[in-house]
Amino acid sequence: MSDVDQLQAELLAEVVGAGTLDAIEAVRVRALGKSGSVTALLKTLGGMSPEERQAKGPAFNGLREAVSAAIGARKAALEAAALDARLATEAVDVTMPVWAGATGSIHPISQVMDELAEVFADMGFAVATGPEIEDDWHNFTALNIPESHPARAMHDTFYFPDTTDGEGARMLLRTHTSPVQIRTMTSQQPPIRIIAPGRVYRSDSDATHTPMFHQIEGLVIDRGIHLGHLKWTLETFLKAYFERDDIVLRLRPSYFPFTEPSVEVDVGYSLVNGQRVVGGSDGWMEVLGSGMVHPKVIAACGLDPNEWQGFAFGTGVDRLAMLKYGMDDLRAFFDADLLWLKHYGFRALDVPTLSGGVGA
Ligand code: DAH
Repeated sequence: MSDVDQLQAELLAEVVGAGTLDAIEAVRVRALGKSGSVTALLKTLGGMSPEERQAKGPAFNGLREAVSAAIGARKAALEAAALDARLATEAVDVTMPVWAGATGSIHPISQVMDELAEVFADMGFAVATGPEIEDDWHNFTALNIPESHPARAMHDTFYFPDTTDGEGARMLLRTHTSPVQIRTMTSQQPPIRIIAPGRVYRSDSDATHTPMFHQIEGLVIDRGIHLGHLKWTLETFLKAYFERDDIVLRLRPSYFPFTEPSVEVDVGYSLVNGQRVVGGSDGWMEVLGSGMVHPKVIAACGLDPNEWQGFAFGTGVDRLAMLKYGMDDLRAFFDADLLWLKHYGFRALDVPTLSGGVGA
C-alpha cells in the first residue's frame, strides 16, 4: 500500500469514527486545515520536478477529494441526526390534556367586536371584511376623496414603497374601515346591510392615539332610505350594546367627503360619583361619524344613485370598549400586560348573545 493509500485509509476511518459535529470538524482541520496532513502532502508538489509532479499530482488530489467528500457526507448525516433529535425533544403532543395552569382570556377588543356582530346580526346585518393592505382607489378616491383633497393629508397614511415606477398609485395600510363599503357595493347587489369591524392604521401615537386601532363601519343601501332609518338604527344599536334603555342621541351637522348630509352623533352621559356613564343627558360625548352615502360614492361603485340610497357610519371599537368596560388608557390595549389582560379579559366560554346579555 502506498503512503497516499495508507493516509487515505487512516483518514476515512477517522471520518467514520467521528460521532459528533465537533469531532468531524476536528478531522477536517487535521486533514485539510492549514497545517493538515493532506495539505502538507499537497505542498510538497511545489518542490518536485515536473515529471515527479505529473506522477504524484493526480494521486494527491484524488486523496484530497476523497477525504473532503467523506467529511462532507458525514457532516450532513450528523446534522440531519441532530435535527431529528431536536424535533423529537421539542415535539408537542396535542392529544395531551390541557395544562390546568393555562389562563388565556379573550381580549376586550375581540369581545366587543363579537358583541357588536351579535347586536347588528339581530337587525339583519351581515359581517363584511376587506384587506388591511388597501389601494388608493378603495381607501380614498371611490369615497369621494380625490388626490388633492385635504382629507388625504389628515389621515396620516402609511404608504408602501412605490413598486409601480410612478405608473400607478402606491399601496397603503387602510386608514379607516370605509373602503369595505366600496368593496361591498362593487361585489354584491343591493339591498345591502353590513357591518365591517377591523384594524386600521395611521401614523399617529400619543395617549389617545395608537398607530393601529380598530373601527367598525356600517352600511345600508336600499330604496327609500333616509336619516330617520339611520337614527333608529344607531339608537337601537347603542341601547343593545350598552344594555340601557335611557340612551339619548344628538345628531350634529358635520362634514365627511363620503356622506351628504353628514352628521356627528353624540351620546348623552350622566355623572355617577364624578365618572361619566353612558345614559341620561347630563352632558354629551361624540361616539360616531355618519351620514347619508354620497351619490358620488354610490355611482363610483356602479350603482344608480337615483335608484339606491343609504346611510353609513363609522366609529372606534377601542373607544366603545373603554366606554363600556371602564378602561381609561387606550395604549393598555396593546401592551400585552398579563396583569391587565387577566383583569379585563373575558372567559373563552362567555360568548356574547342577546339572550344571555351581550356584556357576558
Ligand atoms: N371613516 C371615518 C373616519 O375614519 C369615519 C366615518 C365617518 C365613517 C362617517 C362613516 C361615516 O361611514 O359615514 O374618520
